[in-house]
Amino acid sequence: MPDHDQDLIVYFNREFVPWNEARVHVFSPFAKYGAAVFEGVRAYWSEQRGRMLVFRLREHMERLEVSQRIMRFDEIAPADDLCAATIELVRRNSFRTPVHIRPTVYVDGDGGSSARGPIGTFITAVPRGTPERVHEGCTAQISSWERISDRSMPARAKANANYNNARFAGIQAGIDGYDAAIMLNSRGKVSEGQGMCVFLIRDGVAVTPSVTSDILESITRDTVLTLLGGMGVDTAERDVDRSEFFAASEAFFCGTGWEITPINAVDGTAIGPGRPGPITRRLQQVYFDLVMGVTDDCPEWIAEV
Ligand SMILES: Cc1ncc(COP(=O)(O)O)c(C=O)c1O
Repeated sequence: MPDHDQDLIVYFNREFVPWNEARVHVFSPFAKYGAAVFEGVRAYWSEQRGRMLVFRLREHMERLEVSQRIMRFDEIAPADDLCAATIELVRRNSFRTPVHIRPTVYVDGDGGSSARGPIGTFITAVPRGTPERVHEGCTAQISSWERISDRSMPARAKANANYNNARFAGIQAGIDGYDAAIMLNSRGKVSEGQGMCVFLIRDGVAVTPSVTSDILESITRDTVLTLLGGMGVDTAERDVDRSEFFAASEAFFCGTGWEITPINAVDGTAIGPGRPGPITRRLQQVYFDLVMGVTDDCPEWIAEV
């Protein structure tokens, strides 16, 4: 655990507690079966406004409600409460740096794999900057691991246990010398990366797999579709074939963690000239100006603390 984390405050079952006091029992269905759902939210420090700006907090907490319903929790932690708790958490930690916020709703108690309650909640927030590959771009592998399907482990739920699928793909990509994995779904169509959605540019149109492609319904993907529209770039949400990467002039990942990360090559073959393309670069500029409060085009997406 990084040293600084010990000084952080955690929201834990309606209380704000020191980092080391946020503990869940080893016999809980959370520990035994990964029975939990979570969110990843970013907040950025705006020098200009002297405030932390939490990006699309409400949408993340509304998705967390949907995840809880899909997981059939017998009580739903409401978005309103979790938004308020997050804002208070950011305030109490007095951050002046970018942070990654992770709200979790989990099955507590001592039940079995079908237990639906009791429900516990916690939220952590830790400093986390922009990954290096956002600037330089990354390489990706089409994974031999298939994306989980809605008939087995719904990708639409941001459930902790789903991430074993991402783990297999991410580890394999690393062993094989790639930065990231892109998974195909059970129909053989492109689904998403191991924690991010994917776009490619073909003939000037930004194409991304539809929400019925076994993706997480990504909030950044939704942001990107809106921003590209504002930039005058046409978009399409549809089935995507893996071979389309080789016909694309640009490609990028998007997600809260990966922000907007250009993809320079897939399976060792360069996308376009093999470096971040002009639409991706313009999008990055618009995106970072928005989340960091340089522009104020979508004030409803920013919660100031
Ligand atoms: C599997 C998966 N897909 C996509 C995303 C992107 O979603 P969002 O943009 O809401 O962060 C994430 C999380 O970042 C994820 O874990």
